[in-house]
Amino acid sequence: MAFYYKEPSHTFGEYLLIPGYSSTDCIPANVDLSTPLVKFKGGENPKLSLNIPMTSAIMQSVSDDKMAIALAKEGGVSFIFGSQSIKDQAAMVQRVKNYKSGFVSSDSNVKPTATLNEILELLEQTGHSTMAVTEDGKPTGKLLGIITSRDYRISRMTGKELAKDFMTPFEKLIYADADNTTLTKANDLLWEHKLNMLPLVDKKQRLRYMVFRKDYTDNKINPLELIDKKKRYIVGAGINTRDYAERVPALLKAGADVLCIDSSEGFSEWQKITLNYIHKNFGKDVKVGAGNVVDAEGFNFLAEAGADFIKVGIGGGSICITRETKGIGRGQATAVIDVCNARDEYYKNTGIYIPICSDGGIVHDYHMTLALAMGADFLMLGRYFARFDESPSDKVRINGTYYKEYWGEGSNRARNWQRYDLGGAKKLSFEEGVDSYVPYAGSLKDNVASTLAKVRSTMCNCGALNLPELRTKAKITLVSATSIVEGGSHDVILKDKFSID
Ligand code: IMP
Repeated sequence: MAFYYKEPSHTFGEYLLIPGYSSTDCIPANVDLSTPLVKFKGGENPKLSLNIPMTSAIMQSVSDDKMAIALAKEGGVSFIFGSQSIKDQAAMVQRVKNYKSGFVSSDSNVKPTATLNEILELLEQTGHSTMAVTEDGKPTGKLLGIITSRDYRISRMTGKELAKDFMTPFEKLIYADADNTTLTKANDLLWEHKLNMLPLVDKKQRLRYMVFRKDYTDNKINPLELIDKKKRYIVGAGINTRDYAERVPALLKAGADVLCIDSSEGFSEWQKITLNYIHKNFGKDVKVGAGNVVDAEGFNFLAEAGADFIKVGIGGGSICITRETKGIGRGQATAVIDVCNARDEYYKNTGIYIPICSDGGIVHDYHMTLALAMGADFLMLGRYFARFDESPSDKVRINGTYYKEYWGEGSNRARNWQRYDLGGAKKLSFEEGVDSYVPYAGSLKDNVASTLAKVRSTMCNCGALNLPELRTKAKITLVSATSIVEGGSHDVILKDKFSID
């Protein structure tokens, strides 16, 4: 006879936190959100920690090098998506490791023959009004000039004018040498010449970076940025259970700090084989997370197999249709609680602490606090990050409102068959994810600041100044369906729904 769980499985929206005593030193400014990323022995420090408990999902529409840099600046880690060629993924990792704070690669570039109309279209897509005119239209081509909104006047032009005829040509630009200019020197030049942007070129006049005046303060105020000993941003990368023998060394060579097996279901011999291979061939210092699992049995299996952290969650992702197509999964809150209990038990028995990542299903910011209070050491978020400027997907305007595209790794668009691989044919037999839009929300920095302000505030309400304290002090209650209705504004007519003729 099948095993039946006694309790239904629940998700975050069915729980609330009950405030505890807050002393006067319990203020948001005193809250420390740092958390371990990889396993460690009790009494020792983990080899890698996060300064904020956030990682971005291993997805094409979420985690590329741009996202990784933006998130590391705030103290979290991106896992660069693995559903691309080994070469392309390693190049993304390398770009993060080579990134020099304040020096950005130009993301809006045109050929000298681009028309004003094409330039306006690009502006609409990227939102960036500074564009490089390069010989081949590529970000590192020979720099011929720069176009900003000061170079054209739409009302007096036809739209057919060519970039080369109205750009500010290279001869008139203030620029600097890419190999010998420090950020301080670049910022000095910006101020001296009252520039908004300084291009940095190599000896052959090829564009390497741009330094923007508006980033000046930014570079000074990333107190939580996550960097390695050489002051390079920390970055993760997704791997699969098929091509690890080639992918892992390429990612390590590119500088990846941590890896994670990306799979919809991690309680499998494939993961054990992969973990064994990596630790045997590349050493125990290579940190590899595994998952996803949703119960204690799955956790214990991956813990014994040598996982450095364990990811929890099946079927709860916003773009996920696994529960509908296959009927497997578990309410995310119940899964986190069960696995975290197993983690604590494992720690008691072995002295080894294995961090738990709650992956998928976070809708409201308070769901993050709940997941952390239930025992998760950090979170993995897809939809949340997909909405920001820094995600790789296109920003589109529909009926006057901006959206970003967001698609699942199991959708026909991504066709990441390795994530769903059970050793059969090398193809995606059916979809387990959808292709969708999410409302565009602006910059990662602003949103993460606002979200974490809420998390810190709630932690103070619970009397907790750090995450281990939150886990022990939190008082959590299930709520009835009726009291969930009471939780939002109710029995009033919202003004934005009310039109006066
Ligand atoms: P979200 O934060 O709710 O959007 O969930 C993101 C998580 O969903 C990812 O980290 C993955 O674990 C999972 N995921 C990504 N793509 C798919 C898919 O196509 N089907 C099911 N789950 C997915």
